[in-house]
Amino acid sequence: MFPVHRPRRLRVRSALRDLVQETSINMRQLIYPMFIRSGKDHQIPIRSMPGIYQWSLDRALEHVAVVQETGVRAILLFGIPETKDPLGQGAYDPDGIVQQALRTLKQHFPQLILIADLCLCEYTDHGHCGVVKDGTIDNDESVKLLAKAAVQQALAGADMVAPSDMMDGRVAAIRQSLDQHGLVNTAIMSYAAKYASAFYGPFREAAENTPEFGDRRSYQMNPANRREAWREVDLDVLEGADLVIVKPAMAYLDVVSDIKARVTVPVVAYQVSGEYSMIQAAAGHGWLDLRQAVEESLLSIRRAGADLIITYFAPQYGQWLQQVR
Ligand code: PBG
Repeated sequence: MFPVHRPRRLRVRSALRDLVQETSINMRQLIYPMFIRSGKDHQIPIRSMPGIYQWSLDRALEHVAVVQETGVRAILLFGIPETKDPLGQGAYDPDGIVQQALRTLKQHFPQLILIADLCLCEYTDHGHCGVVKDGTIDNDESVKLLAKAAVQQALAGADMVAPSDMMDGRVAAIRQSLDQHGLVNTAIMSYAAKYASAFYGPFREAAENTPEFGDRRSYQMNPANRREAWREVDLDVLEGADLVIVKPAMAYLDVVSDIKARVTVPVVAYQVSGEYSMIQAAAGHGWLDLRQAVEESLLSIRRAGADLIITYFAPQYGQWLQQVR
């Protein structure tokens, strides 16, 4: 082979390297998660996620304006309500925090794609993603409430709802109740393969949803399983998911790759809070270069097959793209 074949020929200068680059990241592929809380004039730092805040709606409007300038076109909303209860009523209250945010953001930023995270865990006093009955999570009762919440989110202006609860059958129930309300164009981006992961650690501080007892392993997936993700994704697509999410991203790139080959709907990977915090922490110590590490992590997720990436780095990445190197 050698000396005929010299792969380095295509690496000798940057224009050549760019010409043969296989994967890239475009701002239109990134989705930025935001935490909205009730009250006024709040920008509360999340200690474990430097640069990420809980925003009251008035301040969120200012932040979204800045974020949009960086090229972000889609945001994913999480709500932190004032009060919590066993049935997570804030999730399906027409005036719940996320519903208020959706209405206001839709009005101020009609071009922005609004995605509502759909789960009960931020709204229940016990912090679980469903209704608790006799110490366990009742699947079918939870699904009913999720379907109600989806309708309220869609009525308030969500372009997509993103169920992250991992109850069985929720995508079908959500699709049915959206359609019954004439909300046929509200898309469902389902967290289809969501693992019970330690990498959600910092999110628990951000969304104040730590389970009061037990953990989420009776509904989220076992990190040891690969083929089970195919099954979860198949079911969600059959039930009507318009996009499917694999979550977390970097520790599950094999799953992202499998799912990309398996389905024809867009594949989304969620670079979760712990992935963000690890990179931030190491960069904060000067142990790695933030920009290079972020770019490489996003490229790896795209290379594995993700069409879209949910990432807390989205606005930061957009700012870097606008700077000359
Ligand atoms: C809630 C939800 C979680 C995340 C998104 N939606 C946390 C969990 O399941 O415990 C995690 C996001 C992140 O870590 O960035 N259902």
